[in-house]
Amino acid sequence: MNPIIDASTTSSSSVELTEAMNEAFKDTGELASNAKNFYDFMAKYFQRPDWTFMNYGFAIQDNDLHKTILRNGDVDDLNPALYYVQLYSAAISDTNLEGLDVIEIGCGRGGGSAWIARNFNVKSMVGIDYSENAIEFCQKCHAAIPNLRFEHGNAECLPYSNNTFDIVINVESSHCYPSMERFLSEVYRVLKRGGYFLWTDFRQAKEKTVLLEQFKTSGLEMIEKVDITENVDLGFDKGREARLSLLKEFPNELQTKLKSWIETSRYKNGETFFLRCRFKKPLTHNMHSNTDI
Ligand SMILES: C[S@@+](CC[C@H](N)C(=O)[O-])C[C@H]1O[C@@H](n2cnc3c(N)ncnc32)[C@H](O)[C@@H]1O
Repeated sequence: MNPIIDASTTSSSSVELTEAMNEAFKDTGELASNAKNFYDFMAKYFQRPDWTFMNYGFAIQDNDLHKTILRNGDVDDLNPALYYVQLYSAAISDTNLEGLDVIEIGCGRGGGSAWIARNFNVKSMVGIDYSENAIEFCQKCHAAIPNLRFEHGNAECLPYSNNTFDIVINVESSHCYPSMERFLSEVYRVLKRGGYFLWTDFRQAKEKTVLLEQFKTSGLEMIEKVDITENVDLGFDKGREARLSLLKEFPNELQTKLKSWIETSRYKNGETFFLRCRFKKPLTHNMHSNTDI
């Protein structure tokens, strides 16, 4: 089994690791409050090549996997990767990606972008993330996949021209963004007319009205909205054992910080919901949109 800390790629001492960990968990100790430091830290110090996803997962009660394509290389040894992949599969649903230019914003460790590049016959696939360390990891880890590249970039200021992509996908990342409005206007800008935006993420129940209003004023046409809270909850439960097993390879201090997060179900109390939505950039300029691209 590979060590979780790959000594050949980091020359970290335990003191350096502890300092980096303290930085990553600075402020309140909550993951989302210091997201960039946290994701940078994880990508720099935990380079395990078969750990390529970081989402809650998705499962269907009767284990109905018919829509999820898995091949050799898609499922990791220790990871409950099947459930992670299924969150991507749910986001894509039956959208056709064949021959198209696709971008994933907030690609993390790149497992989702790699899965799409391998299985959907896309013309090109680019994964971007604002964690430089995550992008460096992705570039090494998924280098062998043709038509796939990873670039550093911020969801609120995308380094691409107008009308570049046919499909934008965004999986469990937007809850980290300071401005959802700025992100949505960037998605609108880089999407070609008639292109699709496939989004899935969680929010606090009290944020729902604001979120739906942000979608409404984005200029994108919402064509599907599905509450997948129960599926994500089930996916998280089913993946728990594998996560706890992965956790055992982490330094003790980090195990303590992450254990209660892994053991607690997020979605049972009704305070948090998880949605997946599909949007289309209209073929003609929408009078209600505040953008003219
Ligand atoms: C929970 S992880 C999900 C990663 C991946 N989508 C997956 O499902 O495995 C959230 C990711 O969003 C990225 N992220 C957060 N804020 C971002 C921003 N402003 N621009 C780009 N990426 C961002 C983080 O670095 C992290 O990799």
